[in-house]
Amino acid sequence: MDIIVKAEKKPIQRVIPIESPSFISEEKLQQAGNPALLFAEPRPLAMEIGCGTGDFIIQMARQRPDLNFLAIDIYNKGCLKTCRKIDEHRLANVRVLRMEARYLLTRFLEPETLQALYINCPDPWPKKRHQQRRLVNRDFLDLVGHFLAPQGEFVFCTDFADYARQVAELFPLPGFDNCLGEASASHLEGYPFSKYMRKFRESGLPLHFIHHRKSTHFHGNRIAGSAYPMNVDLRTTGHGGAP
Ligand SMILES: C[S@@+](CC[C@H](N)C(=O)[O-])C[C@H]1O[C@@H](n2cnc3c(N)ncnc32)[C@H](O)[C@@H]1O
Repeated sequence: MDIIVKAEKKPIQRVIPIESPSFISEEKLQQAGNPALLFAEPRPLAMEIGCGTGDFIIQMARQRPDLNFLAIDIYNKGCLKTCRKIDEHRLANVRVLRMEARYLLTRFLEPETLQALYINCPDPWPKKRHQQRRLVNRDFLDLVGHFLAPQGEFVFCTDFADYARQVAELFPLPGFDNCLGEASASHLEGYPFSKYMRKFRESGLPLHFIHHRKSTHFHGNRIAGSAYPMNVDLRTTGHGGAP
C-alpha cells in the first residue's frame, strides 16, 4: 500500500514502501542497536552518504567484499532503486537506510567505526544564499574525524568547482593526511563512477576529488550524540525533505 505524505512545495508525494531485505527502516536499526549488527557476516564498516540510485555502492561493494557498506540517502526512490540493484546482484555486504547523514551518524554509529566514508556529487547548492546548506563544512569534518577509524579514508567528489574549492580549503586539518599530492585531483584510480559522476564525465565536465586519511594522531573533539546540532531540518537538505 502506498503511503501519501505531504511535503513542502510539491503538495502530494508518494513514498513507495521498500520491501527489500537490504533495506533497513529506522525501527529495524533501533532494534539492532548498532549498524554493524545489520550484516550476517561481521566485517569492517564503510558508508556512502547520498547513494542516489546506487550505481557507486554496487561497484564498490563488489570491489571490496571484505567490507560491509551502509548506503544512505533521504530520497525514497533512490533507496528503492539502490535496493533493487543490490538484490539483483545478490550483494550481502550492503544495507540501505533512508536517513539523513548527520542523524544516522550521531544517533546510531559508534565512534571510530568507519573504514571509509564516501560522498559523491552531493547537492551543490550553487546559489550564494544557499551555500550554508552544503553538507560538507568544518563542523561536518569534525563528525567525519569522530566516526572514521584510524587510517579510515574520506573521499569527496564533486562536479562543482566552487564546492571542491570550499572543501579543499578546510584542509590541512590536524588529524587528517592528504592522500593526494595536491589539494584535489580530477581522477582517483580504481574509484567507481556514480550515476552523476558518469553523467558529468560524459558531458565533458571535470570532476574534483578530495581524498584524506585519518591519521593515528587524530585528537578531534569527542562528539556526544546529542552535542552535534541534531535538529537537522530535512527542508534544508537536498530534496526539500521530499520522498
Ligand atoms: C546530486 S545527488 C547524487 C547522487 C549520487 N551520489 C550520484 O553521484 O549519482 C545527491 C544525493 O544526496 C542525497 N542527500 C542530500 N543530502 C543528504 C543528507 N544530508 N543525508 C543523506 N542524503 C542526502 C540526495 O537525496 C541525493 O540523492
